[in-house]
Amino acid sequence: MASYVEELFSLSGRVALVSGASSGIGRHMAATLARAGADVVLVARRADRLAEVEAAISGAGGRAHALSADLSQRDEVSRVASEGAQPFGAPDILINAAGMNPRQPPDDVSWDVWDATLHLNLSVPFFLARALIPGMRGKKGGNIINIASMQSYRAFANGAPYGASKGGVVQLTRAMAEAWSADGIAANAIAPGFFPTELTQSIMDDPKLSAYHAEKTAIGRNGEMADLDGTTIFLASRASAYVTGQVLPVDGGYSAT
Ligand SMILES: NC(=O)c1ccc[n+]([C@@H]2O[C@H](COP(=O)([O-])OP(=O)(O)OC[C@H]3O[C@@H](n4cnc5c(N)ncnc54)[C@H](OP(=O)(O)O)[C@@H]3O)[C@@H](O)[C@H]2O)c1
Repeated sequence: MASYVEELFSLSGRVALVSGASSGIGRHMAATLARAGADVVLVARRADRLAEVEAAISGAGGRAHALSADLSQRDEVSRVASEGAQPFGAPDILINAAGMNPRQPPDDVSWDVWDATLHLNLSVPFFLARALIPGMRGKKGGNIINIASMQSYRAFANGAPYGASKGGVVQLTRAMAEAWSADGIAANAIAPGFFPTELTQSIMDDPKLSAYHAEKTAIGRNGEMADLDGTTIFLASRASAYVTGQVLPVDGGYSAT
């Protein structure tokens, strides 16, 4: 008999679709979901990177399928939703981790950069989720996990479009919960602190800046990828059955101090 902990947290029999799965947080979360038993569809532009992630998950005994797509193109969102249901059936876990941060001084931000950032970070999570909702309804439930940010709540330098999009992600998460929770589909977000990825490389490569942010946390260090695992599995699993519309900071206490 499965232990109660397994019953609560196991993702066996579940199908996850993870955007931004070619690197950083999305890549790590995809592997985490697979380790917890889910079959995972991996979405991003770089096919070679996705193939690596697929091979790593398969090599560890899991099942994954790479689906290359450029989510800056509106039509790709519906293609991802339909092709994403082919390998393992309809996804009932969605992680919206594809994102960008142009880090430009506000005086230099063009309309095009603004639109691209808001599109990828805020519009794609909504439209991708909406495209997967019929499949989740068919399976009588699902879990959507958006990726917010400390910039959802506070301004950092050169973060106008990024911060605006991430502030929007918090409200989008509430709106998704309001719309779909009655169908058994929970929507929550994780707000990470500073984690070492391509997106934060310029900060992590600067010893002063990296130490500055580590010192701003209560724990005294920046994030390590494994710090995300428990929260990811919790928000994807039955363990969080009565949690929806919420944002969970995983930031070492940065936002608490
Ligand atoms: N790292 C942190 O400390 C931190 C903190 C707070 C929030 N976040 C958030 O976490 C999420 C993941 O970021 P990360 O730090 O892991 O950065 P990352 O390593 O740069 O990952 C970004 C992902 O988005 C994908 N992507 C970018 N443009 C895309 C497009 N047009 N179509 C499809 N996929 C696209 C990239 O894949 P391709 O280039 O292959 O398309 C990549 O897989 C983002 O939403 C970010 O805002 C990160």
